[in-house]
Amino acid sequence: MANTIVIGMQWGDEGKGAFIDRLAEKHDLIVRYQGGANAGHTVYIGNEKYVLHLLPSGILREDKINVIGNNVLVDPVQVLDEINELRERGIDVNPKKLKISHTAPLILEYNKLLDAAKGSKIGTTGKAIGPTYADKSDRIGLRVYDLYRSDDELKAKLEENLLIKNLNLAFHKSSSISLDKVIEPLLRTRDELEPFVCKDIKNLIYTYNGSILAESAQGTMLDIDHGTYPFVTSSNPTIGGFYTGTGCGGIKFNELIGVLKAYTTRVGEGPFPTELSDERGEKLRAKGNEFGATTGRPRRCGWLDLSIGQHAVQVNGLTSIAITKLDILDGFDKILACIGYKIKGKEVDYFPVEQLENCEPIYQEFPGWKEDTSKAKTISDLPENTRKYIKTIEDYLRIPVKRVGVGKRRDQMIEFGMSIFG
Ligand code: GDP
Ligand code: IMO
Ligand code: MG
Repeated sequence: MANTIVIGMQWGDEGKGAFIDRLAEKHDLIVRYQGGANAGHTVYIGNEKYVLHLLPSGILREDKINVIGNNVLVDPVQVLDEINELRERGIDVNPKKLKISHTAPLILEYNKLLDAAKGSKIGTTGKAIGPTYADKSDRIGLRVYDLYRSDDELKAKLEENLLIKNLNLAFHKSSSISLDKVIEPLLRTRDELEPFVCKDIKNLIYTYNGSILAESAQGTMLDIDHGTYPFVTSSNPTIGGFYTGTGCGGIKFNELIGVLKAYTTRVGEGPFPTELSDERGEKLRAKGNEFGATTGRPRRCGWLDLSIGQHAVQVNGLTSIAITKLDILDGFDKILACIGYKIKGKEVDYFPVEQLENCEPIYQEFPGWKEDTSKAKTISDLPENTRKYIKTIEDYLRIPVKRVGVGKRRDQMIEFGMSIFG
């Protein structure tokens, strides 16, 4: 059966969660491979809203195995809270259904404080992502398996780190933290977490007799290597992240799907060439309900940027596109899409990731449509102008648009065979 990877093409919040939940129906094993609780993936089942932070977006489906890979940052309290919240809402989450890699880095309390103290320049989610990945690279981080060392060994590791961490906190004018405060959540949660811990996630995935669906936590433009550095997250949502985040070099994907919101949003700081600071941006935010699923912050909104789309196609080797939130563009008189940039009046002939803040977008203009697309079931239900917009995206990115989201519910996705235009 087909293996599929789903990767966000913009700055996150493309609608990956809703899309993965839909695809999960036809896959057996769903894998989150990077990021942490900075992710906020929203899934609706009927009118019931679920926001998943650490749990993969296949968790709401029965009889699927959900894997948290070795490069997903695990906050034990957060994972258990999410598991228990789902259970209270009648969703079964058990150790057969959820597997957490024992080599995944642990989120620790001191790193939450450090993120709060120094994350404002980037506008981080405050979930300790940067400091925890930094500890991993610095080789002082703890991993899930450290929870199962003796208390003395665990304490010794934390005590050594605390010396540096408290100096660092003092440097950032933040108060220090005690060993008790750091260790308490770990001791409190480790027994409940243990049945979910898997000692060889690579082997589980590699030998699994079924189809795999891999889920990126963020979008390509937030990638630490290929995004708008330093205004990025600290891991690789792009394709390489799957391989480091699972250790499964042998997995080949039949479909590499890029999720592309029909317009662009961004939360946090950093360049955003097509940002709209007028009533059109307000309209996108209000209609699209563009407020962070993790932090509640208003998302910055703007037109679709196809230069960014092309960057994502190339970085990830995408084979098709899923456009989401097309319905939010209903009712605009005119719709714009960026098809290149100018810097100081001169057209740029490469993707200027290092100076997007200096880029003036070159726009293609489209007539809008008044019809309600949210009830469309097939391509022919979409207005002519909507189809032209989709066709331009397909022509520009040179890979097929195979799916279009016209609403947040499971049934509000139009699927095509080869491409929207057959
Ligand atoms: P993610 O982080 O990529 O999973 O995206 P978020 O969940 O943060 O934000 C996407 C939002 O758009 C969620 O509230 C979804 O319920 C909603 N959504 C997803 N696809 C569609 C769609 O095609 N149309 C509309 N109107 N909403 C959608
Ligand atoms: P989903 O999964 C949108 C952004 C933050 C900040 C930057 C670094 O919902 O698509 P971090 O906390 O990771 O150190 O913050 O990255 N960011 C996201 N923006 N959606 C996300 O996830 C994000 N995860 C991180 O706003 O600008
Ligand atoms: Mg989100």
